[in-house]
Amino acid sequence: MKRTFKILAVLLSMILTLQCAMVSSFAAFDDKSMTKEEWDSTYSSLRDENTLPMLCVGADETQLNICWHAAKDKAQPKVRLAKSADMSGYVEFTGETTPAETDEQLVCRVTMTGIEENTTYYYQWLGEDGWSDAYKYESKGFDSYKMLLVGDIQIGGQSTDNPEEQSRIGYVWQGVLDEALSKNPDISFLLSPGDNTSTGKAADEWQTLLMPEYTRSLPLALAIGNHDKKGMMYDYYTHMPNEFFGKYFTGLDRDFWFRYGDVLYLVFDACSGSVADHRAMAKEAVEANPDAKWRVGVMHQGLYAPGIAMLEPETNILLNAVFQPIFEMYDLDIVFTGHTHMQGRSNFISDGVVVGKAESGKTYTDPNGIIYLNTNACCDQGSMDDMYLWPYTAYGFENADVTTYSTVEFTDTTMSVKTFRGDNSELLDSITIEKTKGFKDNPVNIFIRTALYKIVEVLGLVYMKIDEVVVAIRGGHF
Ligand SMILES: [Fe+2]
Repeated sequence: MKRTFKILAVLLSMILTLQCAMVSSFAAFDDKSMTKEEWDSTYSSLRDENTLPMLCVGADETQLNICWHAAKDKAQPKVRLAKSADMSGYVEFTGETTPAETDEQLVCRVTMTGIEENTTYYYQWLGEDGWSDAYKYESKGFDSYKMLLVGDIQIGGQSTDNPEEQSRIGYVWQGVLDEALSKNPDISFLLSPGDNTSTGKAADEWQTLLMPEYTRSLPLALAIGNHDKKGMMYDYYTHMPNEFFGKYFTGLDRDFWFRYGDVLYLVFDACSGSVADHRAMAKEAVEANPDAKWRVGVMHQGLYAPGIAMLEPETNILLNAVFQPIFEMYDLDIVFTGHTHMQGRSNFISDGVVVGKAESGKTYTDPNGIIYLNTNACCDQGSMDDMYLWPYTAYGFENADVTTYSTVEFTDTTMSVKTFRGDNSELLDSITIEKTKGFKDNPVNIFIRTALYKIVEVLGLVYMKIDEVVVAIRGGHF
């Protein structure tokens, strides 16, 4: 009997150990929560620098990009990656330096490779004062995973050069990350459909965006928004993968794409009217990833967002004419947008027509049409006075006072999109798509659509010329 108890005790302890290991494998993000006082202190001690690093997604799930600023005479683009906190057995990666926005600094850009799934890593970058502390990065599953979606972080809000507003929004951003990551420790990376900063011209906006320590362990994939487009700082503070500079893009214009697990992400700079380049990027990415099971589009302006977007000619006519045909041509599953600061989701849409209801809480198998999810704004709580719900709207969140975040979870055959309140993670909206078939890649269809699209490409070039003049008169993008 004693022996039986002993065996049971051993078995029980093994089960408990296994359970702990399973729980800890999802305890990915250390608690980096802050009181307002702690945030204020962090903000005032870091606000005058610009050397915090940005961890970015890599070209695929086995890579991580990173970039940081350093004084010209001390800049060395080197990163160490190890599987233990004492950095023993590290692998060193060397990248490149590129010019910064001032002559005194350079930007260090490094890509780490060979990331394995469900593994704890520690990394250090070579800053001006030597090797940084070791920061933890925990990779998650590659085939099945969950990512986080937060829109219009827009550090600085609508203001220019206002430290109080910048700090206030920085703390909201810190709070949303704290809420989302504590409730979803299995998040792999964060995707934002743009407007990461307010003026696009100030280094301290990026410094504030990177102040939450969560960003040391959370790779970012950030689209360009119209506010980012007001300046060139995005170019110096990000290191996105597969940047596509196209034939006609100018200035900050660029798209980028990456692959994570079975999902191909196409991230468009919707502020550029260079239509031919947008299509070329989609073609390149799709052709390089014939085995991807899902295709996700990301752009800033909110096609099919609830509210005022539909009333803006620029969004309604121009951007739909430019991007919707590309999304149809390459049979995208879902498109993430932002800009209007209004959380909402569309029904299934094909070529501008609602082809099926996409009701909250339901699962749809092999649906026809694309879903458009528009994100709320991290920077702004209170702009939902014009929250019109249109026939294409399946869900709209009409509470003006709180932030939101969404999670998108992929398994072998499903994509589940959930939207939560950013302050208490109450579930607001969810939908699951089950996929049993491949993409509707029809060469004849693509040929015809491409031929017709040439007209849009020519009009896009004309628009670019007009836009150059308008932007010059306005002194930046709207
Ligand atoms: Fe915007």
